[in-house]
Amino acid sequence: MTERKVVLSLVRATGRLHLGNYLGAARDFAELSRDETKECYFGVADLHALTTLPDPQELAASSRAVARDYLAAGIDPERASLFLQSAVPETSELFWLLTNVTAAGELQRSKTFKEMSAKQADNVNAGLLNYPILMAADILGPEADLVPVGEDQLAHLEMARNIAQRFNHRYGELLKTPEGYRKKAIRIPGLDGKGKMSKSDGNGFGIADSPEDIWKVLQPAYTDPARKRRTDPGNPEICPIGQIHRFVSPPADVETIETGCRTAGIGCVDCKKILLGNVTELLAPVRERAQALDDAAVDDALRQGAARARKRIQPTLAKVRKAMGL
Ligand code: TYM
Repeated sequence: MTERKVVLSLVRATGRLHLGNYLGAARDFAELSRDETKECYFGVADLHALTTLPDPQELAASSRAVARDYLAAGIDPERASLFLQSAVPETSELFWLLTNVTAAGELQRSKTFKEMSAKQADNVNAGLLNYPILMAADILGPEADLVPVGEDQLAHLEMARNIAQRFNHRYGELLKTPEGYRKKAIRIPGLDGKGKMSKSDGNGFGIADSPEDIWKVLQPAYTDPARKRRTDPGNPEICPIGQIHRFVSPPADVETIETGCRTAGIGCVDCKKILLGNVTELLAPVRERAQALDDAAVDDALRQGAARARKRIQPTLAKVRKAMGL
């Protein structure tokens, strides 16, 4: 039998999974977990969440909620290993070893570091700066071949590749250089028209939310400001609702709303209602699975997954330690 490709990805434990997380990453996780030719590891990045200083109780609840959403998204925990990052201490040790082959300048120049420092100017901790090294340890520890992520994580993935290459250059070809998964990674815009959909900006909706709750955020969502009146034509390319349609709606609906928007043949409310219908249909199985899940199933999956992830990482850590003279 040929060796299975190792797939790894994590989601930060900072709140429930939103539509962007699902389309950019978690939907691929679910599909990959059912692929016989892949060996999958999916984690909840609770250590990374500490960089934004969540309340301890909130962090614990959030970690569990993300794990729950993973299962609701359709990941099969028998086939894929689901784990909390903090339950795999080997990753933290590898992190420190890798800090020594990481250029401080590269960390300081990171766009995410600059954005996060501006966002929380009163808490520019070293965790924010070193964030990409921990992410590299997450990836390089299990010797991942494929790392399915959304567009916003590509720069971090590139840093992980650089760190692996720098390590290999100094200590020998020990670490595998990972690849992304999709040819073109996805970016789902936020409903406020200000950037990507993001947990911290509260500009999206959860994948297990009810249609009523989704409508509460969809109805007031930002649209092309040129459409002040129903009779004003607009441009779906600059409207987040128009862009999201392209990811979730069938081609006939995309055609209807794009032509309708450009000719003022359809109003923004109708366009949003069509989106609500399609999103509801897309997420119906997720919501159903979420309702059927109990805490014991989540805890069980996490326990088994952490044991498998640790086993996978231990040999890498052993060879890295040895190569470094420890
Ligand atoms: P996080 O928690 O911000 O996001 C989790 C996954 O969802 C994707 N994503 C999006 N995709 C499309 N459109 C969006 N608006 C959108 N928002 C988020 C992200 O690209 C990601 O794939 N640093 C990572 C977590 C991490 C990790 C890792 C990922 C820690 N270690 C190792 C991969 C491998 C993060 O903060 O993702």
